[in-house]
Amino acid sequence: MTAAPPDNVLIGVLPGDGIGPEVTREAVRVLEAIAKGSGLDLTVAEGLLGGCAIEQTGRPLPDETWELCQRSDALLVGAVGGEKWDSLPPDQNPGLGGLLRLRRELDLYANLRPGISYLPDLSPLRSCDVDVLLVREAVGGLYFSPHRGRRREADGDVAYDTMEYSAAQVRRIATLACRLAAERGGRLTSVDKANVLESSQLWREVMGEVAARFPSVEVEHLYVDNCAMQLVLRPGDFDVVVTENLFGDILSDELAGIVGSLGLLPSGSLRDDRFGLYEPVHGAAPDIAGLGKANPAAAILSAAMLLRHSLGLDREATLVERAVITLLRRGVRTPDIAHGVEAVSTSAFGDAVLAELDSMHDGQS
Ligand code: IPM
Ligand code: MG
Repeated sequence: MTAAPPDNVLIGVLPGDGIGPEVTREAVRVLEAIAKGSGLDLTVAEGLLGGCAIEQTGRPLPDETWELCQRSDALLVGAVGGEKWDSLPPDQNPGLGGLLRLRRELDLYANLRPGISYLPDLSPLRSCDVDVLLVREAVGGLYFSPHRGRRREADGDVAYDTMEYSAAQVRRIATLACRLAAERGGRLTSVDKANVLESSQLWREVMGEVAARFPSVEVEHLYVDNCAMQLVLRPGDFDVVVTENLFGDILSDELAGIVGSLGLLPSGSLRDDRFGLYEPVHGAAPDIAGLGKANPAAAILSAAMLLRHSLGLDREATLVERAVITLLRRGVRTPDIAHGVEAVSTSAFGDAVLAELDSMHDGQS
């Protein structure tokens, strides 16, 4: 995933709903600045996804968007959803019908969610020194239940979803997680509920088989309930955490809470070629949409992940991450994390990142 970047690159940008457009705007400005600085021939093309797509086309993932996704080298997504569309049937709503369908149909099985305590003062914990990479299986499990539905019975409705995993599905996420752990601190925590669920027993079995091929990686297996507690009690002990789809959804929000803000967590959904979909972990936050209050840090850090994983621009990705962290530490913060210091707007934060990148560039030449 880190070979030389292609000569010209098409990034499909799907800003989505709520604060999605304003945070992706800042991330795109950063990508354009990096492209200019590194001579990369970058084209950005926008598409509709989620609630805005339902409003304009009647469907959360219109054909034109699907075609754009297939032509693109990587995708940058803002956020999707809002109360307005919550009552639609799941397969027609912005989440399952839009974003999740995209993850699934593009087979983006590995959702990487790094949680790093850039600003320990934001954490609700007494001490917080965290650098965890959560690896969430993203195209299986309860979310894409082959047997789901609802039926009417004499004493009321019954609804059901089923959690299903094949050994092959577990094997590929286990292999990636072991590889990532070997490249990082060498510690892997696999999370399941093997004391209760069949699918978790298979998960644990296959995880053990795969881990045996990575002698440098130390593996611990935790039940999900225990893991939720251990993450709060000893977050600094975790390195790579791998888990199935729904457990990963829940634990990644917990990780965001531990490091202090959902506004700082980026993510990338990958498969085995270089293609990936990058998006902040946070949602559409319709209550603050359009007010210039949204924190674009997670979207900008997602763009950094795009540079690293899909374009092989590791150095540039690190520069963007350093610029964001430097500013946050200097107190340049949006209202969600300002806590006492004067807050800046979404676009002012973007301006500051561009200025910081410029000054880093000058410092190097
Ligand atoms: C996430 C989100 C999505 C998910 C929603 C928007 C469908 O919560 O990316 O964590 O559940 O995967
Ligand atoms: Mg979630």
